[in-house]
Amino acid sequence: MPRGGPDASCLDRLLQTDRPEYLDRDDVAPAVKRSVVDALEWTGRVFGSHQQFAHIALDEIADVPDPRILELGAGHGALSTLLLEAHPTAQVMVTDVEADSVAALAAGELGSHPRAVVRQMDATAIDAPEGHFALAVFACSFHHLPPATAAAALAEGTRVADKLLIIDLPRPPAPLHVLRLATMLPLAPFIPFVHDGVISSLRSYSPSALRALAEHAGVTIELRGGLFSPQIAVASRR
Ligand SMILES: C[S@@+](CC[C@H](N)C(=O)[O-])C[C@H]1O[C@@H](n2cnc3c(N)ncnc32)[C@H](O)[C@@H]1O
Repeated sequence: MPRGGPDASCLDRLLQTDRPEYLDRDDVAPAVKRSVVDALEWTGRVFGSHQQFAHIALDEIADVPDPRILELGAGHGALSTLLLEAHPTAQVMVTDVEADSVAALAAGELGSHPRAVVRQMDATAIDAPEGHFALAVFACSFHHLPPATAAAALAEGTRVADKLLIIDLPRPPAPLHVLRLATMLPLAPFIPFVHDGVISSLRSYSPSALRALAEHAGVTIELRGGLFSPQIAVASRR
């Protein structure tokens, strides 16, 4: 399935790539990957997206008294840190598939937080029983997964959590997408964060793609936002 969904236009079908981001590659120096993760943490802090994502996540579990939360693809861990600060009784399992990021998380404040556990975890193979978490959250990461894997993550996330919250880069209509790419492309060869941003944009899923993935995974999905705000998807078991 194209990233733009089963009904994607010809132009939209051209605006995608199988090329991995630096973050996905094993042949890239750890310092380059770290620079991307650090830039994500910095931009999220300066532009307020970590706070925004924490509010969105907490709204989803407003009626759960002592929620267990799973963060998938946590990277720098800023979202988990804010969730723990904002909710006095929440317990958070902070995870990422990348061993170096997990080691950095474990060595930081989250590693010794009394209500946090840091684990290495793939979003498609979560080591937890059914319904263990009130919420699983996967921020700015879903586009890393190709369609078959993305559908597996939808099934797995909704197996272990009552709600799987996916927050990701929106996929604009193709002409706007060309403009977005044009603003980033000149810097992509020089700045690893922008290089990964261009690939992220090309791999972002449209609302119709997310619906098709949810259908394939056999889960219910509710979509909000997109275009000029983050794409939000809340998936749950049927
Ligand atoms: C762009 S970063 C996002 C980091 C952070 N969540 C944020 O909002 O800035 C994507 C993260 O997804 C992780 N990731 C990629 N594939 C994954 C998978 N299959 N399971 C879990 N995490 C994955 C990467 O290691 C990386 O830390």
